[in-house]
Amino acid sequence: MRAARVHRFGSIGDVTVDNVPEPVPLPDQVLVRVVSAALNPIDYKVALTGHRGARTLPLTLGFDAVGTVEATGPDVSSVSVGDRVCLMTDIMEPGTAADLVLAREHNLAKVPAEVPDPIAAGLPLAGLTALQAWSLAGIEEGQSVLVHGGVGGVGHLAVQLAKLSGATVYATSSRRNLDLLDDLGVDHPIDYQATPPVRFVGSVDVVLDTQGGAVAAATLRAMKPGTTLVSIVGFQPEEDEVRADVRIERMLVEPRAAELDTLVGLVADHRLRVIIHDTTPLERFVDALQALHAGHTAGKRIIAVA
Ligand SMILES: NC(=O)c1ccc[n+]([C@@H]2O[C@H](COP(=O)([O-])OP(=O)(O)OC[C@H]3O[C@@H](n4cnc5c(N)ncnc54)[C@H](OP(=O)(O)O)[C@@H]3O)[C@@H](O)[C@H]2O)c1
Repeated sequence: MRAARVHRFGSIGDVTVDNVPEPVPLPDQVLVRVVSAALNPIDYKVALTGHRGARTLPLTLGFDAVGTVEATGPDVSSVSVGDRVCLMTDIMEPGTAADLVLAREHNLAKVPAEVPDPIAAGLPLAGLTALQAWSLAGIEEGQSVLVHGGVGGVGHLAVQLAKLSGATVYATSSRRNLDLLDDLGVDHPIDYQATPPVRFVGSVDVVLDTQGGAVAAATLRAMKPGTTLVSIVGFQPEEDEVRADVRIERMLVEPRAAELDTLVGLVADHRLRVIIHDTTPLERFVDALQALHAGHTAGKRIIAVA
């Protein structure tokens, strides 16, 4: 089978699509024939540095997929051969950028026929991140939130989930994506190139930080006492920037089947939209990963595998 693999860390251009042996499921594993995969920034972070722990090379990239169950180990009960499923792999066990991938039951949700392949592929990691970030923050109806990077893979799902929770949503993007923010239901779209987003920070109860660095530092300075900043990029304030009166949460997304099932249900009910930036065949995986690395993706970049 084909697999987009990292052989050495340090360069996205070194990722190659190789022919490798087909995997065989362990008793608790599910073998999924991939139809579409999706890219996430963690793919280029792994290619560049290994990212989050010791990884054995060569390794296959890809944390998101939709496909069909091809085989199951004897301990698997929640899915059967022939089921259409989407999945987020464990953070240390990617591998969806391939014809076949192994997963466990906690990685998977069944996908109804009316949800198209690219949509189901783009949903898992970014959707779970957004859901888990809001859950960690404990956002409630009537609160106001600010999402930095509101049209990004995580951001465009986060703004919609915040609206579904009854929050008032502020979100930033470059000028060309302001209409998309509006279309996604954002109450206050902010062009971060024209208006310093910190002008709005004093109005919100929760900030979702997808940028870190200077953006997060300036945000933290302007936050009201008693508010919460959830960083998905590990933002650590410098010693002189620490605020005792603002809660900072750093999180790493986890695959959780029940939450993925909830997200799939919202998409099937047309209450949550996955925006597709573009679709690239597996053979051109590197081109798509370089494009994601450039940092201005709106929605999700999909890899067509089958
Ligand atoms: N901790 C976790 O569990 C977790 C999970 C998922 C993702 N992440 C991390 O979170 C980050 C975002 O992920 P993603 O999938 O959303 O990335 P993405 O799809 O590449 O999104 C990037 C977005 O950032 C926006 N952007 C660029 N510069 C900006 C700025 N100065 N201010 C505000 N927005 C800006 C871009 O909007 P414009 O094009 O309009 O500029 C673009 O839409 C990545 O670093 C990723 O690794 C962490």
